[in-house]
Amino acid sequence: MAVLVTGGAGYIGSHACLRLLEAGREVVIVDNLVRGHVAAVERLSRAHSGRVSFVEADAGDVEAVSAAMREHSVDTVLHFAALAYVGESVDDPLRYYRLNVASMIGLLEAIDACGIGRIVFSSSCATYGDPPEGMVPVPEDCPQSPTSPYGWTKLMGERMLLDYVESCRRAGKPCSAVMLRYFNVAGADRGGLLGEDHRPETHLVPIAIDAALGRREGMAIFGTDYPTEDGTNVRDYVHVDDLIEAHLRAIDALDPAENSCRAFNVGIGHGHSVRQVLDSVQRVSGEGFSIREEPRRAGDAVALYNDPTRIREELGWAAEVRDLDEIVRTALDWRREHPEGYGGQAT
Ligand code: UFG
Repeated sequence: MAVLVTGGAGYIGSHACLRLLEAGREVVIVDNLVRGHVAAVERLSRAHSGRVSFVEADAGDVEAVSAAMREHSVDTVLHFAALAYVGESVDDPLRYYRLNVASMIGLLEAIDACGIGRIVFSSSCATYGDPPEGMVPVPEDCPQSPTSPYGWTKLMGERMLLDYVESCRRAGKPCSAVMLRYFNVAGADRGGLLGEDHRPETHLVPIAIDAALGRREGMAIFGTDYPTEDGTNVRDYVHVDDLIEAHLRAIDALDPAENSCRAFNVGIGHGHSVRQVLDSVQRVSGEGFSIREEPRRAGDAVALYNDPTRIREELGWAAEVRDLDEIVRTALDWRREHPEGYGGQAT
């Protein structure tokens, strides 16, 4: 039985494939390579030959995805494929709704046609928007009110999944799902095989690392007048390997016969401001860089960090890497070793 991983050529999806392969599973990667890297798939295939298949297709391509599910006797789907830049989603919302929402309809149709019983969906703390007072750290029952189209696409994905699993229950079809609401994922595989290479890069940690390595002329802080301790946004940075461990636990906990659709936040339970992240990068790299103060970026929530109670109690998960410097160090190691990321061409 294989696991089908949409977005398996991307940053988080490829790390998930690696851990699944290490755990002895067969993986089928479905990726349209809009943001993913074929080089990541090649690295996985070389490291675990014979247990990686690759289908270059959109996750919403019902025909291609159904065929892959049948050919490889897929029993579990991890759905990572998505565009994931908050700022970009404000400027180009329709692209986000097409790739994140419309594609997911096709994926669920393929899941339905093939009778897949286990689904793990990559949702986001961006579905909470700016939580009401008293709700940070954020529990799963915090009202969801996104501040960006990206956040809305993830909330719509959750809604579709809830409705789909309920329809399975009514029809007597075994299918359960887990929705993992990620906080800010950072860091890289400590084995050095995989890392983070977004094009364009918009994420704070890799941008700061590139500034420290002299690969860009300093960097900007977007907003220094937020109502936080130092005026900059606060986020919960979780190491990518810890995030993937949460997926493995979610898969183990899934019982198709239950027809359940549960949501869990995945974050360490502690917030760091943008300035604290930049301090960490300077400390770990031993390099200074220039920092400009710029206006707020559209769509950004003020402060988001996790209340990790539910995932600890129900899945037995807690972040192992709790030190921001350690997360930054793994990201720095990979970017130092891979000045070109996954290679020349942007995919
Ligand atoms: N930031 C800067 N300068 C930069 C880049 C980012 O100040 O050059 C700031 C942002 O304004 C934000 C913080 O750093 O306050 C983190 O920004 P990222 O772009 O790294 O991450 P986001 O919080 O916007 O988004 C990420 C993922 C989303 C996910 C979200 C949850 O990209 O998929 O975390 O918060 F939903």
